[in-house]
Amino acid sequence: MTGFDQLRLEGVSRRFGTADALSGLDLTIERGEFIALLGPSGCGKSTALNCLAGLLPLTAGAIWQDDQRIDTLPPEKRGFGMVFQNYALFPHLTVRDNIAFGLRMRHLPKDDVRRRTTEAIETVQLTEHASKLPGQLSGGQQQRVAIARATVLEPSLVLMDEPLSNLDAKLRLEMRTEIRRLHQSLGLTTVYVTHDQEEALSMADRLVVMRQGKVQQIGTPEEVHTKPSTWHVADFMGYRNLLPLKASQMNGDQVTVDLGGTAIRGSAQGAVAPGDDVIAAVRPEDVKLADQGVKGLIEVVEYQGRERAVEVVLDDDVRLHVRTERRVEAGEQVALTVTPGRLLVYPS
Ligand SMILES: Nc1ncnc2c1ncn2[C@@H]1O[C@H](COP(=O)(O)OP(=O)(O)OP(=O)(O)O)[C@@H](O)[C@H]1O
Ligand SMILES: [Mg+2]
Repeated sequence: MTGFDQLRLEGVSRRFGTADALSGLDLTIERGEFIALLGPSGCGKSTALNCLAGLLPLTAGAIWQDDQRIDTLPPEKRGFGMVFQNYALFPHLTVRDNIAFGLRMRHLPKDDVRRRTTEAIETVQLTEHASKLPGQLSGGQQQRVAIARATVLEPSLVLMDEPLSNLDAKLRLEMRTEIRRLHQSLGLTTVYVTHDQEEALSMADRLVVMRQGKVQQIGTPEEVHTKPSTWHVADFMGYRNLLPLKASQMNGDQVTVDLGGTAIRGSAQGAVAPGDDVIAAVRPEDVKLADQGVKGLIEVVEYQGRERAVEVVLDDDVRLHVRTERRVEAGEQVALTVTPGRLLVYPS
């Protein structure tokens, strides 16, 4: 399969009955990019991936590979590689035969099949397991077989649907690095589905954050992490404090809100005017215990190793999640400050 420079999704939509699983997805994927589709369960990630793969027909929109329209092509004509959550390996075939399967289906010369299969096995570091059956491998090893099987065909695009969700936490971390390494060393273009924001942030060049079948934001990990486009995205990106407050003053994009009787400045994200109800978003790690500031009472303390996750109740009953290295206890009176520039204020 020849590669492409760009893959363009234009208004890609999929409806099941009367419900829109995916509506109006616009996205341009550049060759060599690692794109993560991120969002909560049911937001349409797998639907988008399956539309791209050709496993689901679109109900509207088009997919272009450079100048060629491909959304009408069957999956095998698109030449994309798929890695599924459950690996979908052939249980009765060895590691080597699982990986060689697609090459044999293409009736390549035997020597080529052998050489490329051996290389693929080496790349995913499974040489000593090559003669085993999938049932004799660990989850991470099986996942590597699935990745080798998809990439040995040198697909122009690799699609992965939550490939790490069956693995334990430690292996998941290792495989993240492994997949990113393979992406780079094989020069792949990858679309990776996950509901894990950390996974998406750490692996992808660009994130597509989805909600209820619609794209909320497309951006680099840093953009999505520091400037979520809506409070829904903020919520999903770890802004655990979403506070319903009132905007008092505005100065450019600086907006003042009242937090537990103290005026705090934040930056307006969208149309906000004095007197508006707003949602102020801030991460627990950007709220600090201090000598002076917003007064509150510690209600809950969770030990988390070096840090503690603390829930503080303010005078006006607003609750704040805070992280601290201080050894605090429930019932303590504390004062809080917000790291300047880290409070984002959204229209509610
Ligand atoms: N074959 C189908 N028939 C009817 N509805 C479907 C079908 N497949 C998906 N849906 C619906 O479309 C919506 C999006 O589903 P999708 O599987 O794309 O979500 P997802 O983001 O991959 O979720 P998860 O993280 O749970 O895998 C959901 O509301 C789902 O119930
Ligand atoms: Mg899914």
